Amino acid sequence: MNQRIIILDFGGQYTQLIARRVRQMKVYSYVVNHKTPAEEIRAMNPSGIILSGSPATLRVEDAPRCDEGVFSLGVPVLGICYGMQLMAKMLGGDVSMADKREYGLADVTFDTASPLFQDMPKSSPCWMSHTDQVVTLPKGFANIAHTPSCPVAAMGDDDRKLYGIQFHPEVTHSVDGMRVIEAFLRRICGCTQEWEMSGYAETAIRQIQEAVGEGTVLLALSGGVDSSVVAALLYKAIGSRLHCVFVDHGFMRKGEPEMVKEVFTAHFPVSLTCVDAGERFMEKLKNISDPETKRKIIGAEFIAVFRDEAAKLGKLDHFAQGTIYPDVIESGAVEGSNVIKSHHNVGGLPKELGFTSLVEPLRMLFKDEVRQLGLVLGLPREMVFRQPFPGPGLAIRCIGDLTKDKIHIVRESDAILREEIAAAGLDASVNQYFTVLTGVRSVGVMGDERTYFNAVAIRAVTTDDFMTADWARIPYDTLALISRRIVNEVSGVNRVLLDVTTKPPASIEWE
Ligand code: XMP
Repeated sequence: MNQRIIILDFGGQYTQLIARRVRQMKVYSYVVNHKTPAEEIRAMNPSGIILSGSPATLRVEDAPRCDEGVFSLGVPVLGICYGMQLMAKMLGGDVSMADKREYGLADVTFDTASPLFQDMPKSSPCWMSHTDQVVTLPKGFANIAHTPSCPVAAMGDDDRKLYGIQFHPEVTHSVDGMRVIEAFLRRICGCTQEWEMSGYAETAIRQIQEAVGEGTVLLALSGGVDSSVVAALLYKAIGSRLHCVFVDHGFMRKGEPEMVKEVFTAHFPVSLTCVDAGERFMEKLKNISDPETKRKIIGAEFIAVFRDEAAKLGKLDHFAQGTIYPDVIESGAVEGSNVIKSHHNVGGLPKELGFTSLVEPLRMLFKDEVRQLGLVLGLPREMVFRQPFPGPGLAIRCIGDLTKDKIHIVRESDAILREEIAAAGLDASVNQYFTVLTGVRSVGVMGDERTYFNAVAIRAVTTDDFMTADWARIPYDTLALISRRIVNEVSGVNRVLLDVTTKPPASIEWE
């Protein structure tokens, strides 16, 4: 993992995506604050530097800038959108407001003699989103692309290996965008090594060993992808000095507590404390029907149970968390690749428990990389590709107050739904799917008898980011099978409904 690309973040909406695309080309990359001093960047030994876009404009005094030294490190630099404008301005060129704001697809014509565009067609549609543009090139630069309304859509200084592009190669709308990124990485930066998850696992294990030393680590194991991967990684790094606490609040899906126990006793034999706290949670939730109150009670009770169990283990040195890269970038805490950080003011659980030292071995990985790492470490596929599941679990899929019978209905109907979605081969294309006990009862007939039983709803969505979602078009025959099995196999249910609402206006969960 010696070769790396450093991305200076000026606050552009696509910064994460740039990091993602570089890693997709199998070159390790990470994002740092645009103010990072050039000497610090030099110490990171990058093969190349990318300047991100930004919502800012260079027409104002306090526009974000990078250290001037960035351009004289002898390291190739690619400025994207604002990054290009900044490079032009800082190196003696000029930027001004375009006559017309350019937003959307534009046909870019390339100078294919430039090393950046050698693999490009003569012209190609690229995504543009800018108000300002370069009007005077800095000394040493050539104009290497244009659009009908942007005379300088890219610029390059081959001697110093400094390049700027006004369009966004990282978004999928720019059909040949990945070719530009690849040319920058391979031809201009000379990146040859392949960044692979197996190599990353070894590095992360070594870093954990160095950081933790002879110390001990506490991990709250939830059964989710991130905490499971952290557990597997830490087990490989420090073995029995990892202590995991798994709190079963009684609202897990069918088979999940058993899977967690099996994996982390048989395959990764960590020191595991399993707490069967179902009764304790149910007691606290008696007669509570308001969704937010349910969530708050479950959150607080989780911390209380965890604190009790952690106390029994005695004082441990570090607290491990499955923080992943998008969380790190979003919190603005972009920095180097350390897996361990000392926080003076850590929030949530670690603070409650008095920990100031956090081990976060996934903080440089995107979600799909976490899954790859899980597979490399040998975790079962069903754990690694587990669909998202809310912390409060089935409790918020059971509308209104909770009883064991109601939870039983959601759990069993959900298990049938999951089985049939998998059997129909839909589990990779439907991003989240579950059943909800609606709280509505309706009249039915079973045999010769009238029933007055529960209605269960199927919620299944397709989504990229879970911020917006569409309802999944599950084939009617699969729905028919799911419905028939639920009313036949789950007692207390005589009706199955399908939720056909997008998010927004509905949320994915019902509570
Ligand atoms: P909503 O219902 O807000 O859900 O559209 C978006 C995504 O977030 C998940 N979700 C949660 N995840 N704790 C979690 O860890 C929670 O309390 C929680 N609530 C919702 C939800 O399952 C969906 O994937």
